[in-house]
Parts: sequence; structure tokens; C-alpha cells
Amino acid sequence: MFKILKKEKLAPLVFGFEIEAPEIARKAKPGQFVVLRIDELGERIPLTIYDFNEKNSSISLIFQEVGKTTRQLASLSRGDFIGDVVGPLGKPSEIKNFGTVVCVAGGVGAAVIFPIARALKKAGNRVITILGARNKELLILEKELSSISDDFFITTDDGSKGKCGVCTDILEGLIEGGQEINRVIAVGPAIMMKFVCETTRPHGIKMIVSLNSIMVDGTGMCGSCRVTVGGETKFCCVDGPEFDGHLVDFDELMNRQKMYLEEENTSLKEHEAKELKKGKCGCKRDK
Ligand SMILES: Cc1cc2nc3c(=O)[nH]c(=O)nc-3n(C[C@H](O)[C@H](O)[C@H](O)COP(=O)(O)OP(=O)(O)OC[C@H]3O[C@@H](n4cnc5c(N)ncnc54)[C@H](O)[C@@H]3O)c2cc1C
Ligand code: FES
Repeated sequence: MFKILKKEKLAPLVFGFEIEAPEIARKAKPGQFVVLRIDELGERIPLTIYDFNEKNSSISLIFQEVGKTTRQLASLSRGDFIGDVVGPLGKPSEIKNFGTVVCVAGGVGAAVIFPIARALKKAGNRVITILGARNKELLILEKELSSISDDFFITTDDGSKGKCGVCTDILEGLIEGGQEINRVIAVGPAIMMKFVCETTRPHGIKMIVSLNSIMVDGTGMCGSCRVTVGGETKFCCVDGPEFDGHLVDFDELMNRQKMYLEEENTSLKEHEAKELKKGKCGCKRDK
């Protein structure tokens, strides 16, 4: 059992947890993730290790409430326990002094990019960060990311903060302005990563993406996280989650992400019905 030491609300549907997990905290590296299960009847979901503190024997996770399990997770409080947390899983990010690295984060992708950007900065890179969200309410980790970046840009789709537009507008501006860029790392919705890759491809800039495919066991056994990279089948949980973005078949990834949409909706509705029965669900969203 893994105790929640701290809970924080970072945006309307985004929460941060600090969890007691000494073994994971001791081994975790930037870019790795855990697979957790709230209780023995729960489904397994992967979440990135946002931070790890060996001294406190704890790891931090940041998650967005998007469906049944993340909603259930958000209903837990400080002092509650999570049944299983397995990790660290996945290959750590490649951290070296590459020169100038542009980190592009969309929405909750900021939680994935932060430990990577921080390690890259520590390794001597010039770090440029572009943080994008639909609107200013959905921007997270602004202070944390700007504190470890040499240059920091914000974009919002509705213009409520930073530049009105999408992350690729800033990236295009940097490339066209002659900024030397040795590597770009993008984390966010698959469609955003696809467009970042299309922006860097004509310029031959090394491009890394962290893929959010559906995962179950997280250890290469079930095949649910299968992705095609450079025409080869890879398992995101053991071969990734980071890959050369120019080689990823994003259309296949996006199709596979929708594979269980019907089951996910049913599961969320059943969960809401149970919570309503218990008089717990304060959700006012359209069903
Ligand atoms: C390596 C990795 C790291 C991730 N890190 C984070 C993170 O740090 N913070 C965060 O908010 N989200 C992260 N995600 C996404 C997160 O796992 C999903 O949002 C979560 O599983 C949704 O579960 P749900 O039951 O609440 O929603 P559901 O209603 O079940 O699903 C909503 C959507 O989430 C995705 N999803 C559902 N189940 C899974 C699953 N088992 N594995 C992967 N995706 C799934 C699908 O696209 C689905 O359509 C990560 C995903 C991967 C693969
Ligand atoms: S999650 Fe099962 S093989 Fe990757």
C-alpha cells in the first residue's frame, strides 16, 4: 500500500500527489513512469514520475482527470492509500549536453517534460521551453518550467495568456529566426506531437516524443501499448516511452488510443452512477 503524503490541485481537473514509495524514489530517472492500481478491482494506468525525492522516500505524480480511474484517484485525499504502484518503468530519457534543446509541452505533458528539462539544464544545455494549453486555466507548472529554462514561452489557443495560437507557432518562429536548435522534445496530445514533428522534419532537427499509448501491464507482456516506429513494432512501455518522433506512425497511435472509447465511457458512467447512489458525486458535467 502506498500512502498519499500530499495532495495539491494545480488546475480545475489537474492534481498533484506526493506518494510514499521509497524503492521507486531510489531508482527513478527522468522520463520514467509508474503503473498504478487504486485497489484490487481497479484498472492499471500509467503516470509519469514527475519528481522523486530519495530523502523523503517519495515520488510525485501529476494527473488530469479524464475518465474513471483518474476521477477515482482525484477523490483520494492526503493520508489515503493507493493499492499498487509499480515502477520505475520505461527507459529513462537520454540526458547529455546536446547544446540547445527546445522542450515543447502541451497540457498535462508539462508534468512529463519538467523532470527531463530540469535534467537537461543540469547537464549544461540551453533549454528553451514552450508551454501550451487550450486556455490559461489549464496551464500548469509555469513557475517550475520557467525557473529551469533559459527562454520560456506560453501559448494558449484562446489567447487568454501568452501568445494566442499553438506551440508550433513559437517553434516555427525560433527556427525561421535562425535559432540554432540541436534537439526538440515534445510531450502532449498525439496530434500536437505529430505537428511538432512535421515542423522540425524539413529542417532535419533531432526530434524526440514521449508517447502516451494505452498500457496495461507496463512490462512488455500484453501488447496493448504497441506502436510502429520506423516500420517496426515497438512496445511503448519497454522500448519507450520516448522515440524518434520522425519515425512514429502517429495516425496508428491515435487510432489505437480510441480502441476502448466505448468501454471507457461505460466504465465512467457506471462509476458516476455508483457515486451518485452513495451521494458522493458532485459532478455537474454533461453525461
Ligand atoms: C507512459 C505514460 C505516461 C503518462 N503520464 C501521465 C501523466 O503524468 N499525467 C496524466 O495525467 N496522464 C498521463 N498519461 C495518460 C494516463 O495514463 C491516462 O490519462 C489514464 O490512463 C486515463 O485513465 P482513466 O480511466 O481516467 O480514463 P479513461 O476514460 O479510461 O480513458 C481516457 C483516455 O485516456 C487514455 N487511457 C486510458 N486508459 C489508459 C491506459 N491504461 N494507459 C494509457 N492511456 C490510457 C486513452 O487515450 C483514453 O481514451 C500517461 C500515459 C502513458 C502511456
Ligand atoms: S503495456 Fe503491455 S506490453 Fe506494454
